[in-house]
Amino acid sequence: MPLKSSRILLIVGGGIAAYKALDLVRRLRERGASVRAVLTQAGAQFVTPLSLAALSGQSVHQDLFSLTDEAEMGHIELSRDADLVIVAPATADLLAKAANGLANDLASTLLLATDKRVLAAPAMNLRMWLHPATRRNVATLRGDGMLFVGPDDGEMACGEYGPGRMAEPLTIVAAAEAALKTQTAIPLPLGVGVRPGATDLPLKGRRVVITSGPTHEPIDPVRYIANRSSGKQGHAIARAAAAAGAEVVLISGPVSVPDPVGVAVTHVETAREMLAAVEGALPADVYIGAAAVADWRVGSAQAQKLKKGASAPPALGLVENPDILATVAGRKSGRPGLVVGFAAETNDVIAHAQQKLARKGCDLIVANDVSPATGVMGGDRNTVHLVGPTGVESWPDLPKDEVAARLVAHLGKLLSGAP
Ligand SMILES: Cc1cc2nc3c(=O)[nH]c(=O)nc-3n(C[C@H](O)[C@H](O)[C@H](O)COP(=O)(O)O)c2cc1C
Repeated sequence: MPLKSSRILLIVGGGIAAYKALDLVRRLRERGASVRAVLTQAGAQFVTPLSLAALSGQSVHQDLFSLTDEAEMGHIELSRDADLVIVAPATADLLAKAANGLANDLASTLLLATDKRVLAAPAMNLRMWLHPATRRNVATLRGDGMLFVGPDDGEMACGEYGPGRMAEPLTIVAAAEAALKTQTAIPLPLGVGVRPGATDLPLKGRRVVITSGPTHEPIDPVRYIANRSSGKQGHAIARAAAAAGAEVVLISGPVSVPDPVGVAVTHVETAREMLAAVEGALPADVYIGAAAVADWRVGSAQAQKLKKGASAPPALGLVENPDILATVAGRKSGRPGLVVGFAAETNDVIAHAQQKLARKGCDLIVANDVSPATGVMGGDRNTVHLVGPTGVESWPDLPKDEVAARLVAHLGKLLSGAP
């Protein structure tokens, strides 16, 4: 995913280089990332929570046992509600805790609980950095998948010279950009995360690719065409498919709902990025296109912000976006066994869905009425009709989680060839 729409969780440890973390927040935000900061107790000796809060524009988390923080956003959610975790400065102490799986304060607990990539920018005295204990810890953490940027060689605050200076903020930004290009959620092993006693795993051993949310189609660097999709239904299906034993890849447009646990998530913005991510995620047993993909984009999005004052308002010359559902359904080789589309309609819901089923060449359409009065777009409930080649099955008004669970059970039956 691009840095400009990413959510960064920044853990600031207790070292002199903490002052550079303030600049790092600015640099990340300048590039469009949102930054939520966590400050260790030692970190607060070097920079104030007030500075971090003012620069990040968000409250700063410091305490594992804070009733207020826990009520607002629990520590597990905090560890997951980000696309990338950055530790800067990463002290010898934080690295040692993370290498050994300690979780006795907020920062170390988040590092153990997160399902996202962690990028560490170590900073410490050169003897601390070169100490065999730190060497061992860094090697362990690299083996566990932690990414590192720096440290640099240079003059230290303590007057010594050598390796241990924290990488410069812009170098950390570049490393974050590179890290965000890879998938953001680290999935749990297959079947883990499923409730004990759940004997019914209709998608066990299946690979499922799901799209969710809206797309944003740029007009210029600050404006875009979007729609009201929240991603709630697509994300609920991803959760339900993972709970049903599937290996799930979720390709999400810009949404504010958190990434589902145990699901590999790729974040995209435009329809064309979504298609590329879908093609990269195939082959799969099931493809579910729940995203509200923009049908059109601006043919020539402007590189500079459009200005008022021209003789006439700018004309947005629209061109058609690629049709992701039809492309997947029409694949000559590697077509998923089941291709499921969603139809968001405001009138003649079933008739339009039947036409869509035939036009796109997919196996099933989940049709829903998204007229404003239904509150479906952005809401927590949905009323859907399953439109297949042999008929229509209409479900009552249900929570989106329940629609997801029923749909997953239905797909499990279709895959097993059950009537
Ligand atoms: C003035 C001063 C500067 C320090 N600078 C560093 C540093 O750059 N890197 C480091 O690993 N520890 C440094 N320490 C030690 C850490 O603050 C100490 O290990 C602390 O327990 C780290 O806590 P934290 O990892 O929870 O932030 C410094 C200590 C002091 C008093």
